Amino acid sequence: MAEETTEETGGEEPEPERVPVDIRSRLALALDVDDLIEAKRLAASLRPYFGTIKVGLELYLAAGPTSVGYFVEAGFDVFCDLKLHDIPNTVQRAAGVVGSLGARWMTAHTSGGPSMLCAAVEGLAEGAANAGMPAPGVLGVTILTSDDTASEADLVARCDLAVDTGCGGIICAAPDLAITEPWADRLVRVVPGIRLPGGDTHDQARVAAPGDALVDGADLLVIGRMVTAADDPVAAAEELVASLLS
Ligand code: C5P
Repeated sequence: MAEETTEETGGEEPEPERVPVDIRSRLALALDVDDLIEAKRLAASLRPYFGTIKVGLELYLAAGPTSVGYFVEAGFDVFCDLKLHDIPNTVQRAAGVVGSLGARWMTAHTSGGPSMLCAAVEGLAEGAANAGMPAPGVLGVTILTSDDTASEADLVARCDLAVDTGCGGIICAAPDLAITEPWADRLVRVVPGIRLPGGDTHDQARVAAPGDALVDGADLLVIGRMVTAADDPVAAAEELVASLLS
């Protein structure tokens, strides 16, 4: 396991046990930064609150596969959010690389169609198996929050597609949890756009409070700027957890 230096952690870490495991296991920290040192510092200080680290395009492009491997070795579940969408052969080979890194989850666009999603699922599983890593899962991105042309029928079709192609879950906005409920027993539902009431919504059009999203059936909440852009990220994470305990 990679050593975390005091410099990387930015000081003393809070006790991990203070946050109940059933809350920590449902919170994913979106490390949307372009610097691995900064990402490591954020992850170290917020470790007690988050069981999953989301490595998105920005960090992956800045720091490469090391960014995934580091957080895997540090003991987090890693959610590799690269939103793959290409020809099946390319997606299969790219997913194989992600699988070999030990990621727990990887995203691919359901709009890429059945062959591409099957290729993503196969590639991810093969990559993990070849590297002796535990079996990861593909999360199908249903409808981008920026897409205002997709219909409820599109969402339903994409949930069916995710199940039929062997995806482990989907990404959906909180308001879509009711529509996606029929697939809840077969798909893990991961929900971004989480904000505490009255908080800055930034560019997210469809936000929800963390407690409401969990009550509505979300399995994993993606927490980004609500915590990472706060003046005091640890205090913001405390506030988040307090809202779930109340
Ligand atoms: O900072 P914020 O909480 O808005 O971060 C949301 C995170 O979730 C970002 O990393 C973004 O890429 C991701 N995401 C999203 N909407 C989707 C899929 C992923 O906001 N439909």
